[in-house]
Amino acid sequence: MPADFRPIAQIACEFRFEASHQLRRDDWSDAENDAVFGNCARLHGHSYRLVVTLRGPIDPETGMVMNFQDVKRLVRERIISRLDHQHLNDVVSRLTTAENLLYWIADQLLGPLPADLLARLELWETTTCCAFLADAELQQFAQARAQAAMAIV
Ligand code: NI
Repeated sequence: MPADFRPIAQIACEFRFEASHQLRRDDWSDAENDAVFGNCARLHGHSYRLVVTLRGPIDPETGMVMNFQDVKRLVRERIISRLDHQHLNDVVSRLTTAENLLYWIADQLLGPLPADLLARLELWETTTCCAFLADAELQQFAQARAQAAMAIV
């Protein structure tokens, strides 16, 4: 490796949690809810799989972007402990789609994690369907969050 090269890498950790949810708008009729949300308008559960990817410089002393154990501890504390075996509608104030859950998850992780370290969040609702926030969405959200915080101060 060239002496002045600062290597960057991406690391990912996978988590699983079980939770119930219901996609339903109270301001819509049953027929409207059924038409838009189908089966998901009924109370049901998922075995969710969350993949958290970080991107950053490899620390020359440790050889790591971040210790996997630290990533796992943080995500378990901030996310898994609050969502596992819960009814997601009681935890997250928006419709509990995978897309909206991802923004709730990003909101919990930004702060403990510097925004430029969070590279990708993937939430698998079933084995075949996931939503994800890539770098562009995460940076845009981090900026909006930072601006809102400044406006409050
Ligand atoms: Ni569902």
